[in-house]
Amino acid sequence: MTESPDIRATRIPLANSAGQMPALGFGTLIPDHAETISATKNALAAGFRHFDCAERYGNEREVGQALHEGIAASSGAITRQDIFVTTKLWNSNHRPDRVEPAFEASLARLQITYLDLYLIHTPFAFQPGDNQDPRDKDGNVIYDPQTTLLDTWRALETLVDHGKCRAIGLSDITLDKLKPIYESARIKPAVVQVESHPCLPETELLEFCKQNNIILLAFAPLGHGMKPGLIEDPIITAIATRVGKTPAQVLLAWAIQRGTALLTTPRSAARAKENFDIARLPQDAFEEISRIQTRQRLNPVVNTGVPGFIPQTKASAQGS
Ligand SMILES: NC(=O)c1ccc[n+]([C@@H]2O[C@H](COP(=O)([O-])OP(=O)(O)OC[C@H]3O[C@@H](n4cnc5c(N)ncnc54)[C@H](OP(=O)(O)O)[C@@H]3O)[C@@H](O)[C@H]2O)c1
Repeated sequence: MTESPDIRATRIPLANSAGQMPALGFGTLIPDHAETISATKNALAAGFRHFDCAERYGNEREVGQALHEGIAASSGAITRQDIFVTTKLWNSNHRPDRVEPAFEASLARLQITYLDLYLIHTPFAFQPGDNQDPRDKDGNVIYDPQTTLLDTWRALETLVDHGKCRAIGLSDITLDKLKPIYESARIKPAVVQVESHPCLPETELLEFCKQNNIILLAFAPLGHGMKPGLIEDPIITAIATRVGKTPAQVLLAWAIQRGTALLTTPRSAARAKENFDIARLPQDAFEEISRIQTRQRLNPVVNTGVPGFIPQTKASAQGS
């Protein structure tokens, strides 16, 4: 990892010589389309160069538009090569024959010709089809028992072979499910994206990742902004006062200093600047945060594949 004294510039090498991931990433889980465009442009202007998307967020088109317009407005200062773009395969596209069409559809919506990283959004295969939230008459998710995670992984390996995707990985995965994929993979996972913050440090998973050249990409580093929550935690606020930074900046710096990459979702221009303008924490502050004992998982997606932070539309709630 190239962690420079300016931790905003930290870049983490990907396995298989697939380039480097800017550690400070911007997440695009933003339900409103106009807000997706403005927040993505604000993030690019603030300095973010890593953008995390998903077909399930329903806004790849808007993210693509914002990135294109932002690059064009930079008059050559920012190019596609300066930007790291990830998107994710949704659960209803796990059947191997659906993977490449889903990948190509994401590329088309994002208006790009290659992806830096493609992730399997969750390890749960849902009934294949265009309904992203298939339910039976009792409201239970319909899974696809015929498709294993390894079947889907093999299809992602083929995408790398075809040269349109530099790295592949998994999201919402536990160590128990990661290990067999890691062992069987021809192309090893380069990244795992999971919820992680001081109340869910995922220490064992992080250790496995460090030993095996996998980047742990932490989502909800600010505890998803839930209140009361990490942003108001007295340990975090006291450190923020001591080091002259905001609680959000303290939490983001902690994540990078422990060797993870992260995704945060500031929506306003002011918060984009705040969340990018982070600085290294003194060692004692870093250790104090690492000693927090409270444990809390905010997003239950890891248990079922059903998204915890994506608002259910009436249509998806009805299973149509
Ligand atoms: N793989 C998965 O299943 C999965 C699941 C969840 C998320 N993700 C990815 O991870 C990304 C980040 O997750 P997240 O949205 O939970 O991240 P987060 O940054 O921890 O939480 C975002 C929330 O924090 C608030 N916030 C942002 N900056 C702040 C600041 N400086 N001070 C105070 N509050 C602040 C925002 O409030 P405002 O909106 O009011 O600004 C928003 O409510 C997502 O966009 C998505 O790309 C992936």
